[in-house]
Amino acid sequence: MAAITVDFQLCFIFILLWLFSMFCLSAFFFKKPKEPQLQDCELPPSPPSFPVTGHLHLLLSVPSHKSFQKLSSKFGPLLHLRAFNIPIVLVSSGSMANEVLRTQDLNFATRDREIPIMEKSLLFGSFGFVSAPYGNYWRFMKKLLVTKLLGSHSLERTRLIRGEELKTFRAMLFDKAAKNVAVDVGKEMMKLTNNSICRMIMGRECSEENGEAEKIRGLVTKSLSLVRKFLIASTVGRLLKKLGISLFEKEIMEVSQRYDELLEKIIKEHEENPNKKEDRDMIDVLLEVYTDDSAEYKITRNQIKALFVELLLAGTDTSAQTTQWIMAELINHREVLARLREEIESVVGKTRLIQETDLSDLPYMQAVLKEGLRLHPHSPILVRNATEGCRIGGFYIPQNTTMIINSYAVMRDPNSWEDPDKFQPERFMVSPSKGKEEIREQLALNYIPFGSGRRGCPGTNLGYIFVGVAIGTMVQCFDWSINGDKVNMEETGDMTLSMAHPLKCTPVARIDPLASFESADLW
Ligand code: HEM
Repeated sequence: MAAITVDFQLCFIFILLWLFSMFCLSAFFFKKPKEPQLQDCELPPSPPSFPVTGHLHLLLSVPSHKSFQKLSSKFGPLLHLRAFNIPIVLVSSGSMANEVLRTQDLNFATRDREIPIMEKSLLFGSFGFVSAPYGNYWRFMKKLLVTKLLGSHSLERTRLIRGEELKTFRAMLFDKAAKNVAVDVGKEMMKLTNNSICRMIMGRECSEENGEAEKIRGLVTKSLSLVRKFLIASTVGRLLKKLGISLFEKEIMEVSQRYDELLEKIIKEHEENPNKKEDRDMIDVLLEVYTDDSAEYKITRNQIKALFVELLLAGTDTSAQTTQWIMAELINHREVLARLREEIESVVGKTRLIQETDLSDLPYMQAVLKEGLRLHPHSPILVRNATEGCRIGGFYIPQNTTMIINSYAVMRDPNSWEDPDKFQPERFMVSPSKGKEEIREQLALNYIPFGSGRRGCPGTNLGYIFVGVAIGTMVQCFDWSINGDKVNMEETGDMTLSMAHPLKCTPVARIDPLASFESADLW
């Protein structure tokens, strides 16, 4: 099991905050609650805390989903925590999560009510969709995403692009197999998803030759490494900002500037040379809305740029990490890999390569993907804010409480899942004793790798496609060897869940690509 540690930088911040809080002791410690009636309401139970800083030490320990899981298994599925005087409720069971994400969805449809601390940044700033409060702007963009950008019609239109990128991925694997060289699965998947999403957004190849694709991947990786710093800055950094201390602002604004330059260039290219109707990409669609005076909502240039930054961040690493985890599970569970390969061969046949239109005919594949996502959710922590005070699980949740939903704990809850830590895709297959309805109910309550409700992931279908075809290709065309007997499944990351030891494995071609398959499929 991964050790729970607090890194040095966080320790430093913690000490700084501790000193600061002592300095402000009177302001916080003797502050009366704003809503007197809360004193009479029953808040969820609370674990022991420090004076002044409260549970801050628990909130800063990493990996947070693990320390929160430990906390909930000791003290219960609904816990009241606080960082200084900021109220936080930790949710760790399917039924409680269901109340927040679905039953009372509207009340929790905003992630953070505060204006983002780095307002002018394209990354995590106030132009973004992911951090936007529930309101006109969010609703307008969500409709656009669902109907025009990520909906089934748009995915159908962009299938060719993804097919071409999959070919490049497959050719790379055959090349590595011929040279007997190991593949860094996460890194290669980042190329596949990054290039596909760039082409879906910008309609042109982020060329490997001129280094543009590498530049965008570098920006995505750098941005992901800033997520935690941003969260620290936006929770406790507000207090320090009053003293003139800006946490991580320079670093985040530098990345924002680099995105801005890149996206401004691409937007200008589109304005000067708009694509024809049949070749329209996401930028064309958004520029049309941008220039339409009668549009329901007047979006700005910065909002367009911020949306692309977010789609790149939300779509690439999520799918890449998920593929890596699932492939690692398959290598450690050869019997599952064999059954999956059997299914692919019986449905797709032996003379054709798997493609995304096959996925809906592969129930065992879908079970494998679901089980991988259950055990290794890319975003183990979901965040919401209570717009109004309300009751959850019989307890009072004050207005403006930050809700932390530990999806990792929900999907490994021993009260809801049999052998919760085991990789068993069969649990998602319909059996005579377990009807479809029962599985659907179980999933509705306890399966939330894409979040749920209004703020649930709008890229779920695209995510399943990316991961499904990549896993399908790796299983159909290759056997896999690793150093040692088993892949090391140690976890790392805090707000996201990654492999502590990135998967490196060597493909051994199972087929002669030139003899066995229709050659048009291959190159
Ligand atoms: C395996 C792949 C993926 C996983 C596991 C995943 C997971 C998630 C999760 C957990 C959330 C938060 C949901 C919540 O708070 O309830 C989310 C939100 C989001 N995802 Fe995904 N995602 C994936 C792929 C994608 C793709 C491919 C895209 C688009 C290109 C995308 C775009 C988004 C956006 C825009 C949001 C914010 C939604 C909002 O705030 O309303 N995701 N995703």
